[in-house]
Amino acid sequence: MASSLQFLLFCIILLFFVSLSNAKPKLTFHPRALVLPVWKDASTNQYVTHIKQRTPLVSINLVLDLGGEFMWVDCDQGYVSSSYIPAHCRSAKCSLARANGCGECFSAPKPGCNNNTCSMFPANSVNGPATSGELAQDVISVQSTNGKNPGPIVSVPHYLFTCGGVKGMAGLGRARIGMPSLFAAAFSLQRKFAICLTSSPSANGVIFFGNGSYVMLPNIDLSSSLIYTPLLTNPVSTAPVYTQVKSIKVNERSISVNKSLLSIHSDGYGGTKISTVNLYTVLETSIYNALTKAFVKYANLTRVASVAPFGFCFDSKNVVSTRVGPAVPSIDLVLQSKKIVWRIFGSNSMVQVSKDVLCLGFVDGGSNPRTSIVIGGHQLENNFLQFDLATSRLGFSSSLLSRQTTCSNFNFTSSV
Ligand SMILES: *[C@@H]1O[C@H](CO)[C@@H](O)[C@H](O)[C@H]1NC(C)=O
Ligand SMILES: *[C@@H]1O[C@H](CO)[C@@H](O)[C@H](O)[C@H]1NC(C)=O
Ligand SMILES: *[C@@H]1O[C@H](CO)[C@@H](O)[C@H](O)[C@H]1NC(C)=O
Ligand SMILES: *[C@@H]1O[C@H](CO)[C@@H](O)[C@H](O)[C@H]1NC(C)=O
Ligand SMILES: *[C@@H]1O[C@H](CO)[C@@H](O)[C@H](O)[C@H]1NC(C)=O
Repeated sequence: MASSLQFLLFCIILLFFVSLSNAKPKLTFHPRALVLPVWKDASTNQYVTHIKQRTPLVSINLVLDLGGEFMWVDCDQGYVSSSYIPAHCRSAKCSLARANGCGECFSAPKPGCNNNTCSMFPANSVNGPATSGELAQDVISVQSTNGKNPGPIVSVPHYLFTCGGVKGMAGLGRARIGMPSLFAAAFSLQRKFAICLTSSPSANGVIFFGNGSYVMLPNIDLSSSLIYTPLLTNPVSTAPVYTQVKSIKVNERSISVNKSLLSIHSDGYGGTKISTVNLYTVLETSIYNALTKAFVKYANLTRVASVAPFGFCFDSKNVVSTRVGPAVPSIDLVLQSKKIVWRIFGSNSMVQVSKDVLCLGFVDGGSNPRTSIVIGGHQLENNFLQFDLATSRLGFSSSLLSRQTTCSNFNFTSSV
């Protein structure tokens, strides 16, 4: 009697757990963060990520654009999907995207070409495709993460994007239809994203959406040692990529810079931004001249013929190699206070252009550029950057090489 009662109880408990575990993936899995790989495309030198989209799912590559307002997908080359829904003029989706125009299409209907749909233009993103596109929705699928490994795959059934152009772009801007905002809305994530770019074309760096720990092998949590500085807004751009450089030091000594160039003016000129679309940091001419002059003086290296786009190249034979790259004078970007310093070591300041030639990896941007300092990809590699859009805060790590890890050390082996 007692044993059959126990057996019954056992069966009930078993049933309970079986039903719980069956229900779990669909009903109770809420990702805390998402993860995407990012790599440097060897032929275009752009940083590229991929996601899965459509029904049936296909993998699509997207060029990373920190300033881009939304996701662009190339619809010219055979977009096939049974779950594609164009956004109709004056619908809620169009107003969310602030797309007021109404488009017609004079060929057979297909994704990217439907009547009565609102169109999107690459308004503030100089890097986007030059054509317009149709606002639309389709399913996308990405990997969640616990911060250490990729976890279960999650989907957004009606992800809003622009269908058109010839080049896919992953827009990480502040706009309401930027990828960080749409992922935050779909999964109740914090409106944050983080990037960690690699220098190696054969290894993946990583992009995170949402908050959490960001753990690199061998078990180094990057979230615990970030330095924070405000993200600024530019009156003519929604890109969440502006920050304040207050002064620049070379070899720990300040160089003389026209302070007016370092602020963002009401016409959108001036200031400092971060851009993954620029390969190297671009400096307004007077800043470039001051920085290179100080660098040449303190480095005391033998100059050799310069190699475009660089103006200062050196014989690297006598340059010692360290964990953080060639031993050269440090370059410091002093941010909102004297203690908030982004230090650039040799691995990020120098570019090895040939066996014996090292160039200073900064480029002259001319005397009246829109942005005085554009911190480009080479200077971002193996640095971890977190953009918190909700609190307008940038977290940065400086070189991970000094912490015995790199941006290619995220463990992409799934834990499920
Ligand atoms: C759009 O409407 C026009 C008429 O206004 C028609 O000629 C055209 O075929 C339609 N295109 C599509 C894609 O339905
Ligand atoms: C974000 O995640 C980190 C690391 O897990 C945690 O310490 C922090 O409290 C979280 N921040 C918020 C605002 O939830
Ligand atoms: C400093 O830069 C501003 C542009 O922001 C320019 O108008 C001004 O002439 C510059 N001052 C000097 C001394 O070069
Ligand atoms: C620069 O290097 C040369 C040898 O390469 C050395 O003789 C000279 O003293 C150095 N100058 C300074 C200022 O360090
Ligand atoms: C990467 O993660 C997988 C899954 O958790 C684990 O089995 C593997 O040991 C990890 N790799 C390293 C190098 O720690």
